[in-house]
Amino acid sequence: MGVSEAVAAAHPNIALIKYWGDRDHALRIPANGSISLTLGGLKTQTRVGFDPELKQDRLTINQAPGEATARQRVTEHLDLIRVMAGIQFGAIVDSETDFPIGAGLASSAAAFAALTLAGCAAAGLELGRSELSALARRGSGSAARSIFGGFVELVAGDDDSATFAKPLATAEHWPIVDLIVLTDPMPKPISSTAGHSRAETSPLQAARVSDAPRRLQACREAVLARDFGRLAEVVEQDSDMLHAVMMTSKPALHYWQPGSLAVMAEVRTLRAQGIAACYTVDAGPNVHCLCLPETEPSLRQGLARLPFDLRILRAVPGPGAWLV
Ligand code: DP6
Repeated sequence: MGVSEAVAAAHPNIALIKYWGDRDHALRIPANGSISLTLGGLKTQTRVGFDPELKQDRLTINQAPGEATARQRVTEHLDLIRVMAGIQFGAIVDSETDFPIGAGLASSAAAFAALTLAGCAAAGLELGRSELSALARRGSGSAARSIFGGFVELVAGDDDSATFAKPLATAEHWPIVDLIVLTDPMPKPISSTAGHSRAETSPLQAARVSDAPRRLQACREAVLARDFGRLAEVVEQDSDMLHAVMMTSKPALHYWQPGSLAVMAEVRTLRAQGIAACYTVDAGPNVHCLCLPETEPSLRQGLARLPFDLRILRAVPGPGAWLV
């Protein structure tokens, strides 16, 4: 038997209602449900080749050897696929990402969605999208959502097989634009994996989790009705609640930088002037500024006024992970 390989690609996603903290850390079963937008415009493409000659996996990320922690995380994920497929040898994994990785831009979501799809195809496993989503979640919680395109909801189920994402609305449903403002493209000092395990140390986490069904419902309704004002309100509140938990964890996590605060303030000012725009920030300093195609020029003008050297990436609703 020779090498069997497959190539898959996936977009990252931005959580509109965010997941933070796990009910089961090892299985990455989230403490609360989440809703995201799959980000067409940014992409990870991954080749997986299972090779009977290999005892260990070999990983390259953007043409450089993967570091030990990344290698271990990839091997643990491939182990799940190997057990399901009855494979006992290693794989060559080559991954290429066209946006900054480890900077709080959900690179792990795109990476583990692509790895799951390519790994299963290379192993000859034929899984449905829900099963792929649950499996991708084991690699990175947010990767469960990148299996699908458009607006996606990850339901916090009771166990492993019940915790997968499902589509809420297609990519064509609402042409939201995400201007991702890179206030600091350096790798973030604390990974989300480490952050999730600190969530419970904040006295605010219980309130954030118990209020999640209300925010999820408001977000679902806003997306389905294409009501930007309602979306803006709940998305910013959810992001601020997440950062309140992070800042009050032990030890505390502070991801916002001066540039992040300036961008958020500018977005609030623009919205007060009637411009459809809102912000959301993941586990990093970069700010996702959501707007509509018609308000993108005003948002860009506002951001250009800020006295910071900001790089902006652009994303629009994109498809779920696909085989190349
Ligand atoms: C703040 O999915 O990155 O972006 O499972 O440890 O890889 P791991 O965590 P990850 O956590 C996402 C945290 C978040 C919010 C979200 O995307 O829902």
